[in-house]
Amino acid sequence: MAMDRNLALELVRCTEAAALACARLMGRGDETAADQAAVNAMRSWLNRMEMDATVVIGEGERDEAPMLYIGEKVGTGQGPKLEIALDPLEGTTLCATGGPNALAVIAAAEEGGFLHAPDTYMDKIAVGPEARGVIDIDKSPTDNLKAVAEAKHVPVEDLTAVILDRPRHEKLIDEVRRTGCRIKLIKDGDVSAAIATCSRDTRVDILLGIGGAPEGVIAAAALRCVGGELQARLKPRSPEEAERARSMGVRDVDAKLQMSDLASGNVMFAATGVTAGDFLNGVRFRAQGALTQSVVMRSESMTVRYIDAEHNSRFKEL
Ligand code: FBP
Repeated sequence: MAMDRNLALELVRCTEAAALACARLMGRGDETAADQAAVNAMRSWLNRMEMDATVVIGEGERDEAPMLYIGEKVGTGQGPKLEIALDPLEGTTLCATGGPNALAVIAAAEEGGFLHAPDTYMDKIAVGPEARGVIDIDKSPTDNLKAVAEAKHVPVEDLTAVILDRPRHEKLIDEVRRTGCRIKLIKDGDVSAAIATCSRDTRVDILLGIGGAPEGVIAAAALRCVGGELQARLKPRSPEEAERARSMGVRDVDAKLQMSDLASGNVMFAATGVTAGDFLNGVRFRAQGALTQSVVMRSESMTVRYIDAEHNSRFKEL
């Protein structure tokens, strides 16, 4: 059964609910509570959706995550068979500290659409539509930056690369600095950073470096809908994690992963800002309600909708 386009708008209800729930806990310093609030809200709305869906990228393995774990069935059980990749709170620390770019995100694909990636690391390179087709994760960051600069008709010095600020990226950051490229070091949130490479306003050109593998699949789903490109390679931290990937169906753990390996077929993506960010506003509470900003997009039509919603607490619990 094909994916009804209205499902995309229902996905936004799920991300809005998750964002509203965890935004209340912004700055409390409690990652777990913020994440749990987002998970509860997203799960309850997902289960109202008419679909026969399975979480393939979720909160973790069944034994460590009681809700929205990998393999959990969501939806009413009636309707299209879908795979769901979600992160009810992407950037738990960002929310817990009131930092920028925390998001509630969810993506849906037809069966077999998503890479079933375990909770391990992934090396990623992501660019927007203008540089699609010129990147290659097997080449050096310098070569990739030159290729992106050429595709965008600007000198490398005018590009901005986003890199997670982690000790593991010391060499990468050194190399990128040597090219003259500008760098935006972020504390967390590489899904938001990958999507930002596709937006003209944010002036971020490329995401480089190692982040979460689940986040890589979710970002690839988003980039499918806006014509960007993400290439990746799993980076398991132990033989056990590599084995886990194999048991989830990844045949070659060292393989270069293209868009079609990460998120294929018809894909839908929705995100709501939790804290104020580069491309989405955060939740703003006001008398008798709250404002949210979301984006929803589909790979089939490549329509990108920004949805500003006013939630009224007189008519629904916020
Ligand atoms: P959480 O939402 O799980 O906190 O992830 C935030 C994040 O920054 C991701 O955006 C990124 O992919 C990953 O963590 C990086 O992992 P690490 O913090 O271990 O470097």
